[in-house]
Amino acid sequence: MLASWMYVSRATFPASDANAVIEPIARVSMRRNADLEVTGALIFAVQHFAQYIEGPPAAVDFLRTAIERDGRHRSLHTVLDDRPECRRFGGWRIAYRGLATYVEKTIVSVQGQPTAETGDAAARLLRLFREFSLPDAR
Ligand SMILES: Cc1cc2nc3c(=O)[nH]c(=O)nc-3n(C[C@H](O)[C@H](O)[C@H](O)COP(=O)(O)O)c2cc1C
Repeated sequence: MLASWMYVSRATFPASDANAVIEPIARVSMRRNADLEVTGALIFAVQHFAQYIEGPPAAVDFLRTAIERDGRHRSLHTVLDDRPECRRFGGWRIAYRGLATYVEKTIVSVQGQPTAETGDAAARLLRLFREFSLPDAR
């Protein structure tokens, strides 16, 4: 059985610190997610994150708890909380790219939405992940 979780959030650090803050997150995530058999994608754009993770339900729950209490971001808004049949990002570990304002606009528009209406938003974000993240190069 598989679980998936997608959220958007707002960074708590200044944009000028982005590389210094995110590089260690990406490094830890790649190792830990691989150990947990979790795959997914992470986008950071200007001041916001969007992340999608999928894997064994216990592993996704465990990571979700850690991510939700991480002080490097706040205002987490869940966009998708699902039990998918198969992986969407099977060949991917966490990929990260610092990105342009228009990507951020998409993320921000999702953050303001009531949770019941996130279906469309989830589809839009999944497209963003596919366009802007890098497949696992292993
Ligand atoms: C936006 C964001 C995304 C994160 N994504 C992951 C992730 O995919 N995997 C991971 O292990 N940690 C991720 N982290 C880091 C975790 O929140 C946490 O710091 C790390 O897993 C170590 O957890 P621990 O301090 O409870 O041991 C992320 C943090 C942030 C701010």
